[in-house]
Amino acid sequence: MVLAGSGVFAFFLLIAIDQFAGHRNPYVGILAYTVAPFFVVVGIFFTLLGALIRWRTRRRAVEAAEPLALKIDLSRPRDRRILTLFVLGSVGFLFLTAVGSYQTYQVTESVQFCGKACHLPMEPQFVAAQHTAHAKVECVACHVGPGAAAYFKTKLNGTKQLYHTIAGDFDRPIYMSAANPRPVQAICEQCHWPQRYVGNVDRTFQHFLSDEKNTPFAVRLLLNVGGGDPSNGPEGGIHFHMNIANKIEYIATDDLRMNIPWVRSTNPQGVVTEYRDPDFKGDVAKYEIHRMDCMDCHSRPAHKIHTPNDAVDLALMTNRLDASIPWVKAKVVAALTQPYKTRTEAEQGITTALRKDYPDPAQANQIIQVTQSIYRENFFPETKTDWRTHPDFVGHKTWNGCFRCHDGKHVAADGKMSIKASDCRSCHLILAQGNPEGMKQVNAQGLDFVHIDAPYSEFSCTDCHTGGTQK
Ligand code: HEC
Ligand code: HEC
Ligand code: HEC
Ligand code: HEC
Ligand code: HEC
Ligand code: HEC
Repeated sequence: MVLAGSGVFAFFLLIAIDQFAGHRNPYVGILAYTVAPFFVVVGIFFTLLGALIRWRTRRRAVEAAEPLALKIDLSRPRDRRILTLFVLGSVGFLFLTAVGSYQTYQVTESVQFCGKACHLPMEPQFVAAQHTAHAKVECVACHVGPGAAAYFKTKLNGTKQLYHTIAGDFDRPIYMSAANPRPVQAICEQCHWPQRYVGNVDRTFQHFLSDEKNTPFAVRLLLNVGGGDPSNGPEGGIHFHMNIANKIEYIATDDLRMNIPWVRSTNPQGVVTEYRDPDFKGDVAKYEIHRMDCMDCHSRPAHKIHTPNDAVDLALMTNRLDASIPWVKAKVVAALTQPYKTRTEAEQGITTALRKDYPDPAQANQIIQVTQSIYRENFFPETKTDWRTHPDFVGHKTWNGCFRCHDGKHVAADGKMSIKASDCRSCHLILAQGNPEGMKQVNAQGLDFVHIDAPYSEFSCTDCHTGGTQK
């Protein structure tokens, strides 16, 4: 009975903590509606069992005509002692229940719980979150929507997810879905202010070519991020899409929103312009119209899964891999991108391939170790997750990102206007590029892009740049 009572007590306590806590914890549902009732049921079971045993001994006692057992007499010191012990024990137990419930409540809120307790399904997101600007932001800060209804929904979902994790039948890969919608802009706005004027951002993209010398190749860009609010700076640039005075909407023909054949922009005066890809013959009314938000560009703000190409470039740049080893860029990217079914298979495959490429065991071991750690950080074969399954829309090299709309093809009804910002200088200026010598020549006017020797056509970087080995 004490156990059942504690279960009921823990249930109400958890609900109360949750009501008065300043923030929201979706997994308290698992505790309040699953764990606490479990103890109530176990308690009731033992109570009934006890009653049954008692009833049988009593019947036997009646048959043997012995006197009935239970007699409490508080004038007897023995009874008083037992009662005091019982009360103290119960109070102690309730106290432990309270402490335990509160501790578990806090555990379920932590990033560790989301990422580690729920190990297999959440591993990719947990690991990928560790190398982003949001590594220190709690999962629940972004993944519990605003308002009581969204909160209740995530709570129910928490219990459902527990079931699917135990049953092992969750989706692979996991995507945001109708049941678990992606965070809305209001979530980002708890910390970010869309009106902020950012202006120019200077960023260098360091690469290494897939040749024998792993030739360094960098591009230094001055990104015109600008701002979307005329009272804090000139409105314009990339953050012009902030939807403050103007509104940009679009339809997508696929779930990952890779194909955007129709865009509508409404300016502050209410003038509406519709842009359409002439190849799109479908009916716009059949699709859901989305209003553009942060995640249409920053699609991986907290879960950055590097492409093998970028991950190896990073390892070379930070000297984890030695760039003087011939062909190391090409060989490591090739070893990473084989189709492996499990992590163990991948680790063996990587070892075999690189041992063949580099016969000197000491050199090979070092390369293998780094390659395997790149694999662990960015490939999750058990949940079928890697860079190919979760596109990053902030650029245009590996995924069409900006070029889903700014591809020069989307035209307005009069056929005259295509979406602005369709030449190489409207989003960024190339300040410097090439090898370390070239990077010293900074040009404030902006350079024309010198694309190695390879020819390239505008707006189709993704034809060749797939994230793995360049075609
Ligand atoms: C800064 C906000 C933010 C934080 C913090 C955050 N996420 Fe996410 N998460 C997102 C966004 C945005 C998406 C949706 C990407 C999309 O579908 O466009 C997402 C998607 C997901 C998905 C769906 C699969 C996918 O990768 O798209 C899972 C699962 C997930 N997050 C789990 C977690 C876990 C676990 C943590 C804590 C370790 C966490 N998230 C922390 C913003 C965040
Ligand atoms: C709990 C607060 C919080 C929330 C919620 C949050 N962010 Fe952030 N975000 C930060 C902080 C803090 C930084 C700066 C980190 C730093 O510079 O070390 C940041 C940085 C960023 C950056 C710059 C990243 C970079 O690599 O320079 C982007 C882009 C961004 N956030 C987008 C988003 C989006 C999109 C969302 C909504 C899904 C979001 N944030 C939600 C706190 C938050
Ligand atoms: C049209 C695409 C687009 C949209 C929409 C967008 N951003 Fe950005 N944002 C960018 C680009 C491009 C950069 C430049 C840095 C980079 O490439 O990562 C950037 C930079 C940033 C930075 C870093 C600024 C700095 O000082 O370094 C933050 C923070 C940020 N965005 C937050 C947001 C938030 C919050 C939203 C939604 C309210 C948002 N962005 C909407 C494209 C976009
Ligand atoms: C959903 C479609 C869509 C996507 C995706 C998109 N844009 Fe745009 N962008 C537009 C539309 C529409 C306009 C406004 C065109 C007009 O009315 O002239 C615009 C305008 C711009 C402008 C000009 C703003 C000004 O100063 O007037 C820049 C710069 C820009 N976009 C950069 C980007 C970048 C960088 C990305 C990717 C990170 C991106 N856009 C992604 C639709 C999009
Ligand atoms: C609609 C805006 C827009 C247009 C137009 C545009 N870019 Fe970009 N570009 C971006 C953004 C945003 C990034 C930064 C991506 C990031 O932060 O990861 C970028 C990145 C790059 C990079 C560095 C990529 C890397 O990973 O090393 C190169 C090179 C580049 N652009 C070349 C070009 C060339 C050449 C053109 C003309 C054909 C062009 N861009 C047109 C928005 C644009
Ligand atoms: C016809 C195919 C093709 C097209 C289209 C193409 N590239 Fe490339 N790109 C290559 C090849 C091949 C290399 C050399 C790769 C290597 O040696 O690793 C390369 C190298 C690069 C590099 C340096 C190496 C690296 O690994 O990142 C950058 C940056 C780059 N391209 C950007 C772009 C951008 C931006 C666009 C679109 C405007 C583009 N490319 C379009 C084929 C192409």
